[in-house]
Amino acid sequence: MQKIILDTDIGDDIDDALALAFAIMSGKIDVLGVTTVFKNTDQRAELACCLLEALGQTAIPVYAGIGKPLLQSIPDWEQVAASHRPRQIEVLKQQQPSIQPKPGRAVDFIIDTVMAGDGDITLVPIGPFTNIAAAFTLEPRLAQKTKICMMGGAINRAHSEEWNACCDPEATRVVFGTGVPITMVGLDVTMKCVMGYEQVKALGVVDRPINRICFELIHLWGGDNPEPRPTLHDPLAVATLIDPTFCETREMRIEVETRAGHPRGATVPMAGEPNTSVCVAVDATRFMDYFVKTLTT
Ligand code: RIB
Ligand code: CA
Repeated sequence: MQKIILDTDIGDDIDDALALAFAIMSGKIDVLGVTTVFKNTDQRAELACCLLEALGQTAIPVYAGIGKPLLQSIPDWEQVAASHRPRQIEVLKQQQPSIQPKPGRAVDFIIDTVMAGDGDITLVPIGPFTNIAAAFTLEPRLAQKTKICMMGGAINRAHSEEWNACCDPEATRVVFGTGVPITMVGLDVTMKCVMGYEQVKALGVVDRPINRICFELIHLWGGDNPEPRPTLHDPLAVATLIDPTFCETREMRIEVETRAGHPRGATVPMAGEPNTSVCVAVDATRFMDYFVKTLTT
């Protein structure tokens, strides 16, 4: 079992909820805790509790994390927040969860858990990187005790505005500067993992709370589209831990653009000592088949 802490902006794009369900239902991932990041982290933590209730995993602790980017200005922050779809709570609240977010801080949980471990805990950020950057800033020894498998960034310039990397460019820069081993599952590969609607329907056919919830959340996320097709960005980051052969990787030096007037948050390959295993190709069909199988059996 791979031990992870999942750091998530669950509540906007639907793939965070799918990634949490996938990690747990795989039977191959030991989720030590869930931490939330970006904007309303208390509500995100409540969402995570509801989902864990549906998954029968009420012993997994949930901590709310940092809501504001490290430096990004408030107007920018409000602007990016405006595109959110925060109605998932309405569906998930039907679960009437027996658990609540823990009172402590997400960053402390990350530091304490990793530092108390044997070096076998992977941080899996699938939202903006504020919590992770803060944790490494407060406790630089994390770099010797953990590794990161992130959903974020892109090396293809056409995808330079990746959400997780751009919502908090300074945090992204801090994370790539830590020296910790990083696997970057970016838009270069995740954009190839768009579910077919037949696959969405397959999730909903199974008569279990978690399947009903996933199906309903996908349609809520899809809005007026009667046949929504989520892109499995965040589940692919989890999948690369389960089976590294889903993606082909290349060692690269990644630097993060933070200058004003440039695409802030862009993850740029540069000459120099590699600091990242970048996912450059994906067997999307095999991964998505595995994903659907995991959520339906
Ligand atoms: O760019 C993709 C990322 O942004 C994913 O983590 C997805 O959940 C969205 O929020
Ligand atoms: Ca996400």
